[in-house]
Amino acid sequence: MSEAKGDLGLIGLAVMGQNLILNAADHGYTVVAYNRTVAKVDHFLANEAKGKSILGAHSIEDLVKQLKRPRRVMLLVKAGEPVDDFINQLLPYLDKGDIIIDGGNSFFEDTNRRYAELKDKGILFVGSGVSGGEEGARYGPSLMPGGHPDAWPHIKNIFQDIAAKSDGEPCCDWVGEAGAGHYVKMVHNGIEYGDMQLICEAYDIMKRVGKFTDKEMGDVFATWNKGVLDSFLIEITRDILYYNDPADGKPLVEKILDSAGQKGTGKWTAINALDLGMPVTLIGEAVFSRCLSALKDLRVDASKKLPGPTIPEQSPIKPEQRQQFIDNLEQALYASKIISYTQGFMLMRQAGKDYGWNLNFPSIALMWRGGCIIRSVFLKDITAAYREHPDLENLLFHPFFKDAITKAQDGWRQTLNHTQTWGIPAPAFSTALAFYDGLRSAQLPANLLQAQRDYFGAHTFRVLPGCESKELPLDQPIHINWTGKGGNVSASTYNA
Ligand code: 2AM
Repeated sequence: MSEAKGDLGLIGLAVMGQNLILNAADHGYTVVAYNRTVAKVDHFLANEAKGKSILGAHSIEDLVKQLKRPRRVMLLVKAGEPVDDFINQLLPYLDKGDIIIDGGNSFFEDTNRRYAELKDKGILFVGSGVSGGEEGARYGPSLMPGGHPDAWPHIKNIFQDIAAKSDGEPCCDWVGEAGAGHYVKMVHNGIEYGDMQLICEAYDIMKRVGKFTDKEMGDVFATWNKGVLDSFLIEITRDILYYNDPADGKPLVEKILDSAGQKGTGKWTAINALDLGMPVTLIGEAVFSRCLSALKDLRVDASKKLPGPTIPEQSPIKPEQRQQFIDNLEQALYASKIISYTQGFMLMRQAGKDYGWNLNFPSIALMWRGGCIIRSVFLKDITAAYREHPDLENLLFHPFFKDAITKAQDGWRQTLNHTQTWGIPAPAFSTALAFYDGLRSAQLPANLLQAQRDYFGAHTFRVLPGCESKELPLDQPIHINWTGKGGNVSASTYNA
């Protein structure tokens, strides 16, 4: 039998799979390709893969035979059942210590399950987030691998070679155990929802309050892209606003139906945040904003029925106030973005604790720094903050971000004055500020809430340190008979 040559087996020849194979081949690896519809293997070999270190397989057995040991097989197939199907098809041909990598958009709890099942069988399972779309897969994606730590030394070189680079560092490192890689990819997608919503709100405020043309807005985004907001999403927004329909020379974006779609990863992040009790409000608002946008008919109807402020024909922003208006908006966007990432990292910190993952925060920020949709200069600052303090409790506590939000605060609040005065919805900007003000409130009105809960449901409350007495002991659940009527029934123990 001839010696196996394959460094990596890859199953799934859709766009992402094909591009990752070409990327790995460019870096000197021999990749063996397989696909459910086998005709695609031959087509790929005869076309895109021609002349490269890419081999084809016509069956799973054939694929495995061509791989060096430990065998490394990566799946890039539709999330869900196809992943389990392929794992089951692979198992009879694999040996203990072989590695299966799922590079699809799997839900992290599925990855947790697969990791545990395969661990029992001696197979090292890795779930890896892959971001950057077609272009990223071909020339350098952001890769977020997690799973069985013993797999990492065997895949590290391939992964880091094919990943995007940021200042020469690969945007790929080990994320953590079990489903941690797919989890971090999920949060990445949630943050992407938030970033996009924030940009859309800035556009809407410029358009409806500032009465900017699309060209003028494109110019604003072009300027912002040279400052603290420098990022892929700001860059593409600039290009979109500059793009005119060749048929009539008018901005194409204004012809697009304002009803947003979603595939669900933002929703997963929001649901997980609720499950873990973490106030990831900005991503939540971004998901709900897409939902509200999709209710187009209802909104059109409501727009004729429900009153609100009318924005005058002439912009209420005087020409001499325009620059300040833009600068304030930039600060609002920057501050809200800081809040969104703060919330995202709070969520991951909690997930690390609840799920028992040892998450690598400086590397997570670095992995998002290049290759993926949320890539930005801003993530360089987050990487630096976590490198300096890997256990940073809250991003806002780092001097760099504390200073940034302090400076941005005034413009942020002024922008929200405009949205409220003129009735422009700015859910992400608003929730970011509400979160910030909530976080810096040592005292919140939850004392009254606890009283209400105790009043109607005998749910008990605890007393503030310094306010204790014989009737109101410290550190004990207390129930009060608020009306003097009815029983003294409490959900738990102590009755005062
Ligand atoms: P196909 O080319 O045979 O359709 C993205 O859709 C990738 O996932 C493709 O490689 C596709 O294979 C594969 N895929 C989709 N659904 C699948 C299924 N139910 N079983 C196996 N592979 C599937």
